[in-house]
This record gives sequence, C-alpha cells and structure tokens, in this order.
Amino acid sequence: MPTQILTIGLAGLGTVGGGLVTLLKKNADIIERRTGRRIRLKRVLVHNIRKKRQELPDGAQLTDKLTDLTDDPEIDAVVEVIGGKDTARTLIARALDQGKHVVTANKALLAEEGLPLFEKAKEKKRIFRYEASVAGAIPIVQALKDSLASNHICALTGILNGTSNYILSQMTANSLDFATALAEATEKGYAEADPSLDIDGFDTAHKLILLLRLSFGLHYDFAKLPIQGIRDIAAFDIRLAQQLGYHIKLIGQARDTTRTDAHGTPLVEAAVFPALVSHSFLLARVEGSFNAVHIKADAAGSLFFHGRGAGDLPTASAVLADLLAVAREEYPNNTGFALDIPKASLVSPEEWTSCYYVRLMVHDSPGVLRDIAGCMANENVSMSKVLQDEGDASGRVPLVLMTHETSQRSMDRAIQAIRDKLNVREIVCFKVLSWPRSACPLFLPVRERAA
Ligand SMILES: NC(=O)c1ccc[n+]([C@@H]2O[C@H](COP(=O)([O-])OP(=O)(O)OC[C@H]3O[C@@H](n4cnc5c(N)ncnc54)[C@H](OP(=O)(O)O)[C@@H]3O)[C@@H](O)[C@H]2O)c1
Repeated sequence: MPTQILTIGLAGLGTVGGGLVTLLKKNADIIERRTGRRIRLKRVLVHNIRKKRQELPDGAQLTDKLTDLTDDPEIDAVVEVIGGKDTARTLIARALDQGKHVVTANKALLAEEGLPLFEKAKEKKRIFRYEASVAGAIPIVQALKDSLASNHICALTGILNGTSNYILSQMTANSLDFATALAEATEKGYAEADPSLDIDGFDTAHKLILLLRLSFGLHYDFAKLPIQGIRDIAAFDIRLAQQLGYHIKLIGQARDTTRTDAHGTPLVEAAVFPALVSHSFLLARVEGSFNAVHIKADAAGSLFFHGRGAGDLPTASAVLADLLAVAREEYPNNTGFALDIPKASLVSPEEWTSCYYVRLMVHDSPGVLRDIAGCMANENVSMSKVLQDEGDASGRVPLVLMTHETSQRSMDRAIQAIRDKLNVREIVCFKVLSWPRSACPLFLPVRERAA
C-alpha cells in the first residue's frame, strides 16, 4: 500500500524553521513509523529570498509570497515560525480559511490576539497546535490539554524565559552585575540585540497567558497582567538572598483562588515577577538557559517539567510533534476545552499575599531597627528574619528583613512609611516564592462567591 503523504508549507526559515528542516530530513524514518505517513515540504516562505540558506529537501521551493502557502490546494498544513504579529496573523487566518491545519510557535500572537484564531480554527474544524510556543521542547501544552485534563489545576509556577534565567544564573554563580551578565548573554547568542522582551518579563508573560488558558480555561487580558522584569536586580541582592538560602529567579505564576467574583467568574491571581526561591525547591536549581514548569493539580498532585526552552532542534522537536499529530489527524482539541473560554476575573495585585524580602540601606545608629519595625507593625507586617551586612564607606549598612505572609497593599504602605518617616531612600523589595502552598489542598473546595 503506498504511503500517504502530508504536504506542508513552512513560513520562516530562521532558528526554528531551520531546525525543523534539519529534523524533517534526519528523522524521516521515525515520522513514517509513528504516523504511517511521510511529510513532504513543498514551499518555504522567507522575507529575503536571495539570502544564502541551508539545503532544502528535494522539491521544496522558496517563496516570498504568503499566498503560495495558504492558497496552494496541495498543501495540507502550514507551519508558522516567522514570529511577529501582523504577517503571522494574516498567514494563520488565511491558512485556516483555506482549510489548512496550522502549527505555530508564536506565543506573542497567541497570548495577545489568540482567541479569534482559536474561534476560526473551531469554526473551520481545523487542527491548530502550538506546543513550541511555551517552554520550547517541554511538552507542557500537551500535558495540560490531555494528560492532566481530568484535574483541576490549582497553581502553576514557571521559569519560562531562558535568557533571563541565564543572566540570573551567571550573576549568581560568578557574582556578575546585571550589565556584564547581559553582555555575556548577548555575545553567546542567548539574548537578542533588543533584549527587552526577555529581560522586562514580556516573553514570560506571553507564555503565562497561554498556560493560564490551558490550565483554567480562562482568558486573561495581557494588558492587565502585572509584569516586572529583572533589569533592576543588583548583584548585591543576589548575594544577600544566597546567604539567606534563596536564589533570585524570574517567575511566572498563576493560582486559582477557588473564589469567584460577584458574576460567578473564577478569580485567579497571575503575575510575572522576580522572586526569592528557596534552595530546597527544584525551581531554584533550574540553571542557565533551561526552562521549568511546576504544576499543582488536585488529583495528580505536584508535577515538575524541566528542559530546553529554546534553540533550533529543541523547538523544532515540539513543532514536529505537532505536525505528527496533524499527520495522525487527531481530533481538534485546540484550547483543551470544549466550551467557550470566558474572561478571567482578576485578583487585584494589591491583594496578593506573599512573604517578602526587603533590603534597605540605613545609617547604623541606635533605634533604626526599632523604627523600621514600628512602620512594619503599623501595617500588620511581621518579620521572620533580620540580616545586617557590612556597611559601605558612607557609613550606611544594608539591612535585610524577611517578612511573614502579608498583602502587597500592606507591604507597599509599610515601605512608603519607612521612606516618608525615616527618610530611607534605597529600599528594594522582592516576593519570596511560597511553595508548596497550604492554600492548594488535594481537592479544591467548592468555590466561594464574593459578596
Ligand atoms: N528561537 C527559538 O529558540 C524559539 C523558541 C520558541 C519559540 N520561538 C518562536 O518561533 C518564532 C520564530 O522564531 P525564530 O527564532 O526562528 O525567528 P528568526 O530566526 O528570526 O527567523 C524568522 C524567519 O521568518 C522569516 N520572516 C520574518 N518575517 C517575515 C515576513 N514578514 N515574511 C516572510 N518571512 C518572514 C525570516 O526570513 P529571512 O530569513 O528572509 O529573514 C526568517 O527566515 C517566533 O514566534 C518565536 O517567538 C522561537
């Protein structure tokens, strides 16, 4: 019996597209054994058709016309790995309209403008897959959509950006300051010429929005997500955190509060922020450019996924796995939820509770600690630990306070009081990652509705 062929169009021949071409050639045998089909690459869309490229498989042709992929009746599926939003959106929408299945790695597009594309895929009954858009090679999309589909997800916590994690790892291991670690990341190809998407937390935020949708079946508006990056982290705080038994990591976290708003919409907490992570947590040991995701699910319990979040072959591995699902014609389960995806209701960031690390530069004089503790106590913030380090030439000493769990509102007010009343100018404050949380029981309680 002749082997049936899946014909594809590939948009983008950069890092990921190039990796996919390599893998299609290298692993052709396993593709055929697993699906019973061969994948034929017919067209490759690029920006600059004259650029020198790797050799394409026999019969594949370059083009700079989007419709050569979307409108070719022979092409069954389109892979979008050009990145950016405008052309990618047009390409995906048109491919779906023309009856093609689509595979993409485009987290920015899916996080900010994904819902209409999911709706279109549903309407057209097309497969629309995006495993590579979150955490590269780690099969987290599939795990949340399928393997954990029988669970309520209580919380997910991830290190989702390899560039930031590489920079923080280098600052920790080699006592580098942020600028030196960033320059090293750029030289090694881990950071883009414009690294702001990575170091200001937006890339982590895009992935968090996708994970939140897959976990809770809710849409979280990207514009409303609190996002803080790593630009302002000082080597000094990394060293002090280490003395206290923590690593500083850029974290994306979403938690189900088990409450609803007055309209019955589930309330979730979600944010991107640098946090102190205890040495005893696996997340603290995620080094270099690696990614990791911790999931807490009501039946399965704790799960930890770790692997390469970027790079040509690791990302192409996820893209190709999606293509294999297309080749098997797996029933479209694009969002992981059969019903529509409602908007998430958000817990105000001020109400988030956490333990905190607060570092202040103070003059070493009697009564300073008492006054600071007074400002904290006035806002019901209680301290769990105090550390005083060596002073600088001006006679100021760093004072580190670790707090018990408190709301961000109380913490902000206490810090403002310390600034205003005690005239302390340099105050740095980070959340301390709380995990495992007692608020995440094995089985979620029935949701409480807000008054
Ligand atoms: N790199 C990773 O490790 C990684 C990991 C996970 C997800 N992703 C996602 O995968 C996507 C691609 O990333 P990448 O790193 O492979 O990008 P890249 O190396 O910059 O490659 C982009 C490719 O798309 C082509 N292209 C760009 N704009 C185009 C346009 N308007 N029309 C036609 N072709 C266009 C470029 O053509 P030319 O070659 O002619 O310039 C290039 O071949 C992005 O959405 C990214 O977020 C990447």
